[in-house]
Amino acid sequence: MPVSLSPALEPFLDLLRCPTCRTALHPGHGALRCPAGHTFDIARHGYVSLLTGTRATSGDDAAMARARDRFLSTGSYGPIRQAVARLAADAMPEQGTVLDVGCGTGYYLAGLLDQLPGARGLGLDTSVRALRSTARAHERAAAVTWDVFRPFPLADQMADLVLDVFAPRNPSEFHRVLRPTGRLVVVRPTGRHLAELRGQVPALVTIDPAKEQRLFTALAPFFETSHTQQVEYATSLTRTQALDLVGMTPSARHLNRADLAGNGLLPDQVTVSVLATAYRPR
Ligand SMILES: C[S@@+](CC[C@H](N)C(=O)[O-])C[C@H]1O[C@@H](n2cnc3c(N)ncnc32)[C@H](O)[C@@H]1O
Ligand SMILES: [Zn+2]
Repeated sequence: MPVSLSPALEPFLDLLRCPTCRTALHPGHGALRCPAGHTFDIARHGYVSLLTGTRATSGDDAAMARARDRFLSTGSYGPIRQAVARLAADAMPEQGTVLDVGCGTGYYLAGLLDQLPGARGLGLDTSVRALRSTARAHERAAAVTWDVFRPFPLADQMADLVLDVFAPRNPSEFHRVLRPTGRLVVVRPTGRHLAELRGQVPALVTIDPAKEQRLFTALAPFFETSHTQQVEYATSLTRTQALDLVGMTPSARHLNRADLAGNGLLPDQVTVSVLATAYRPR
């Protein structure tokens, strides 16, 4: 039996574009199709696969997405979620459209939609396992497979808010899909983020001190800073949470969970430290 279109996807039909020929997509028989016949499956799990026939440049595998789901469900990043939702609520109209790029499991998108009862959200990610969670994360959250480094399969100026939390960025595409009155919100770690864990697990990706400057340089042609908020706090960490925090990073592929669990050095408390900046398009 063909999979039907999820209600969360319906409002996005006018805003999606065929990745091959840039024309509009129409639903039918468990897929979206363009007039030229390019066809994109709607997965049983609710997301649409627009990234077909090409290998994504990067993205989380299923084990990483599961670790992220488990960790985020403990609420340890709740203060980040609240800060993102507040920034978003200040920055966009109540009935607005949010695009969450590298949305992962949809944790931040769902938090934001809870705060904005008239808004709708679309998550893009290369990870199908993560998008399964996004499609379930909120009744107004739709999910599409896409690679952030390719031109987005989206209409110009379709979004009131582009959200990027710990995810790769494409500044020129962010600018193209944002309305002139819209905002970009970027959340990234500071050098203190998870420092206690990084101290014990050297394979964890280090935070490059030049990162802030690189972000500024990459965004500057397209965006100017509106304001920045720092979110920093200490949170206790169970062994499972510590293992999931490691498991949801790219380093996980090189580390053995059993070895880590046995090393007895995992911290029981960790600093969470991020910056959340709202930008105006130039
Ligand atoms: C650190 S996670 C953050 C996920 C989510 N924003 C969160 O904070 O929970 C980075 C996300 O970006 C996705 N990602 C990595 N490379 C990508 C790419 N080229 N295009 C789209 N998504 C990508 C990963 O699959 C992953 O879900
Ligand atoms: Zn087409």
